[in-house]
Amino acid sequence: MSSKSDYKLVTLDTLNRYKEKNEKFTCLTAYESTMASVISKAGVDIILVGDSLGMVVQGHDSTLPVTMDQLVYHLECVVNGNNGSHIMADMPFMSYATDDLGLENAKRLMQAGANSVKIEGGEWISKMAKALSDRGIPVCAHMGLTPQTINRLGGHRVQGRDPSQKEKIINEAMSLEKAGAAMLLLECVPDELAKEVTKELKIPVIGIGAGVHTDGQIMVVHDMLGISCLDNPPKFVKNFMEESSSIKNAIENYVKEVKNLKFPSDEYTFK
Ligand code: KIV
Repeated sequence: MSSKSDYKLVTLDTLNRYKEKNEKFTCLTAYESTMASVISKAGVDIILVGDSLGMVVQGHDSTLPVTMDQLVYHLECVVNGNNGSHIMADMPFMSYATDDLGLENAKRLMQAGANSVKIEGGEWISKMAKALSDRGIPVCAHMGLTPQTINRLGGHRVQGRDPSQKEKIINEAMSLEKAGAAMLLLECVPDELAKEVTKELKIPVIGIGAGVHTDGQIMVVHDMLGISCLDNPPKFVKNFMEESSSIKNAIENYVKEVKNLKFPSDEYTFK
C-alpha cells in the first residue's frame, strides 16, 4: 500500500519547469478528501478547491453565496486526502474586497493547507497580488470570464472577442505578472487570445474553455465526470466518463489527453 510520503509534492518550480519544457500540466477541482485522493493519485498536478462548490456541492445558481468558513472547511477535507498535488484555494466573493480582508483571508487558506490562492480580477487585483506575493503567498489571477462578477458581465459569455477587450486582457495579464502573480487562469476566451497571453507571460497559464495552447488545463471535476450541475453544460465541457470504465480511469484519461494535446480539441474550443 502506498503512503502519502511516496508522492512528490507539485510545487511552483514543478509548474514553471513544465512551462519551460513546453509540457502540459493538469488541474481539477475537488471539494472533499476521497475525490482529492483519487485525483492526486491519478497524477493531476493541481487540485483547485474552487468556489464552484457553491454550485456543484451546495446547489446555488452562482458562486456568490460561498463563505470563507465554507471554503476553509472544504479545503481541510481536500488537504486530508491529497497525495502530492499542489493545492490551490479560491478566495470567495468579497473575501479580498479590501487589502486587510484579503491578507487575513489568504492567511486562513494557507494555514489550512493551501499552497496558493486564486483571486478573480484584472488590473484592480494587482495590488493584492503584490501584497500576497511579497508575504510569500503564491497567487493565481483568474481572468476572462470571472464568475464572481457574473452580474456585471451579464451572463456566461466568451470574453475577449472584440479587439479592445482582447488588448485589455493581454495588458492586464502582463501587469499582473509584473505585480507578482505566480500563475494566471484564463476562463472562456478564444484560443488565439489564450495562445498570445501564454506566449507573452513567463508564469504558467491555465485554461478552461481557452483552447489547447495554455500551459495547463483545468476542469470542474463534476463536469468531466458527466454530472454537471447545469442542464446545458458549456461547449468546453467534455464528459470523460463516456469512454472510461471508472472515475479513476476517466481522470487518468483526462491527464493523458491533456498531456498529448488531444484535449481540448476544436470541438471544445472557442475560435
Ligand atoms: O471555482 C472554480 O471551480 C473555478 C474553475 C472554473 C476554474 O474557478
